[in-house]
Amino acid sequence: MRGKSGVALSVAALACFSFLSTVAGTSEPLMYTGLSNYTFPDDFIFGVATSAYQVEGAWNVGGKGESMWDTYLHKHPNYTADGSNADIATDSYHNYKEDVKMIQYLGSSHYRLSLSWPRILPKGTDNYISEDGKRYYRNLLEELIKANITPMVTLFHWDLPNPLMDLGGWTNPKMVDYFEDYARVVFELYGDIVKVWTTMNEPHQHCYNGYGTTYFAPALNAHGIGEYLCTHYILLAHAKAYRLYDKEFRPKQHGQLGITLDAFWAEPKNASSQEDRDGAEAYLQMHLGIYAHPIFSGNYPDFVRQRVDNMSLQQGFTRSRLPYFSQEEVEMLKGSSDFFGLNHYTSYLMSPCAGENYQKPSMDDDTGVCLEQHPSWTKPGADWFSVYPEGFRKLLNFVNNNYVQKNNISIIVTENGLCDHGGLKDYERIAYYKKYLYQLLLAKNLDNVNIQGYVAWTLMDVFEWSDGYKTKFGLFHVDFNSPERTRTPKLSAKLYKEIVRTRQIDFDYLSPESSRYQSNKL
Ligand SMILES: *[C@@H]1O[C@H](CO)[C@@H](O)[C@H](O)[C@H]1NC(C)=O
Ligand SMILES: *[C@@H]1O[C@H](CO)[C@@H](O)[C@H](O)[C@H]1NC(C)=O
Ligand SMILES: *[C@@H]1O[C@H](CO)[C@@H](O)[C@H](O)[C@H]1NC(C)=O
Ligand SMILES: *[C@@H]1O[C@H](CO)[C@@H](O)[C@H](O)[C@H]1NC(C)=O
Ligand SMILES: *[C@@H]1O[C@H](CO)[C@@H](O)[C@H](O)[C@H]1NC(C)=O
Repeated sequence: MRGKSGVALSVAALACFSFLSTVAGTSEPLMYTGLSNYTFPDDFIFGVATSAYQVEGAWNVGGKGESMWDTYLHKHPNYTADGSNADIATDSYHNYKEDVKMIQYLGSSHYRLSLSWPRILPKGTDNYISEDGKRYYRNLLEELIKANITPMVTLFHWDLPNPLMDLGGWTNPKMVDYFEDYARVVFELYGDIVKVWTTMNEPHQHCYNGYGTTYFAPALNAHGIGEYLCTHYILLAHAKAYRLYDKEFRPKQHGQLGITLDAFWAEPKNASSQEDRDGAEAYLQMHLGIYAHPIFSGNYPDFVRQRVDNMSLQQGFTRSRLPYFSQEEVEMLKGSSDFFGLNHYTSYLMSPCAGENYQKPSMDDDTGVCLEQHPSWTKPGADWFSVYPEGFRKLLNFVNNNYVQKNNISIIVTENGLCDHGGLKDYERIAYYKKYLYQLLLAKNLDNVNIQGYVAWTLMDVFEWSDGYKTKFGLFHVDFNSPERTRTPKLSAKLYKEIVRTRQIDFDYLSPESSRYQSNKL
């Protein structure tokens, strides 16, 4: 999940908003009452997610190496909104058995987790493998298998070993080899029981916020150059790990390997303005296409290639700030994901804006659009987050039409969820899950989008990057003041459990607005 937002937020009243009440391409009424008309098929995957740095704690236990988030937050204790870090977090290193029980309570068949690279390879390189790290993940994975829960394992969820950060992190071309080496180690260690892998989590948020700005560690602020180098080498590292798995491991381990990309939905601010529609398309190409197009079609989208080349030239650079792939790299990238892992949280309204709004050069300046959210969209937590369920269906269609159908693969929604300020009676989260899952059902049933599964972010309240512990996404509440990090199910946990059990959405269930609510005595 992303934390602080890099986008320029402004609240503008919009005169023309009829498009908010209709969904593109259909006249299906948006009645969030009663029982959903569609159901989730029996083979539809329901999961919950966390990531290593956000939950494990035990940052220096058992010979674990430091990740760049450990190092950065120890050096800059005031970086997060509440001055916190993830030294302990939910202490899942010690509490993992309880986490597994919580996933069982939800009835969720899948658990999406990530491995901490420096817990396994304390120096980042494969010349030394930590016995404690090896054992920890073996125990956790076996606990899941015992409970009949399928692990979906992410190799990199932002916690780069700090020694590799010192070498330039993802701006260093050698990272492609180091990532392949790490991938080989974990395929060998866990490929017997892990059958669903993703290489990278949200490279877009990681590169844009961490390398292009200061919103995430390592806060390089190398805008206009750093985010593109990070993008380039992360893509190549992903592809190299994919080819490795394909060649050496898939024949005996028979698993699936993909990548998780994130996207906001980009809605034109004024649907009848060509400039705004072009702006929304530019945003999607620059922020999603830049990752998805190389992976599913082999190279950067033409629009992105031209735009960054043009801007670089105008700015006096001899070469484009966006590196080029060789023909061999294009071949390695093309088709390097067995499914499309999609993370989605919120939507923005787009309109063209150039000039003074952004640092130059930068990805924002290259994109040339301003982002805002409609004042009618509720904002239950962080300032970047507002609720617009219809955007989810539109994004699912965009991803399906541009990448999924062409590759004959399916989408797994690898993260989606609501951010608030905490509390057990989380009715806004309940409404969010109902509405977003309903939009997913519409995309699946009315638009024929091939969606294989849905993973809720997140199992419990966790360390939310720059927001620290101030914003909450959990289905379970965590008491961060108790040494045991006591977990308690929120009402949303009950709702999720019910959806997973019935494979349908009952809009009246746990709804304070519903007349059935009182008699339900929930
Ligand atoms: C289900 O379909 C009926 C008939 O088309 C419609 O009136 C109702 O609003 C739909 N319910 C939901 C939750 O979409
Ligand atoms: C963090 O903030 C506190 C309180 O504002 C201040 O006293 C302290 O010097 C800051 N520490 C750093 C490393 O900036
Ligand atoms: C939206 O765009 C159309 C076409 O450019 C224009 O006629 C209309 O005035 C715009 N509406 C608003 C509210 O700006
Ligand atoms: C790049 O510049 C060329 C030549 O001026 C122009 O034709 C093209 O539309 C530009 N492309 C983008 C995406 O800005
Ligand atoms: C698409 O994938 C399905 C399931 O993996 C397979 O059965 C089918 O043959 C594929 N279709 C094409 C055109 O490759």
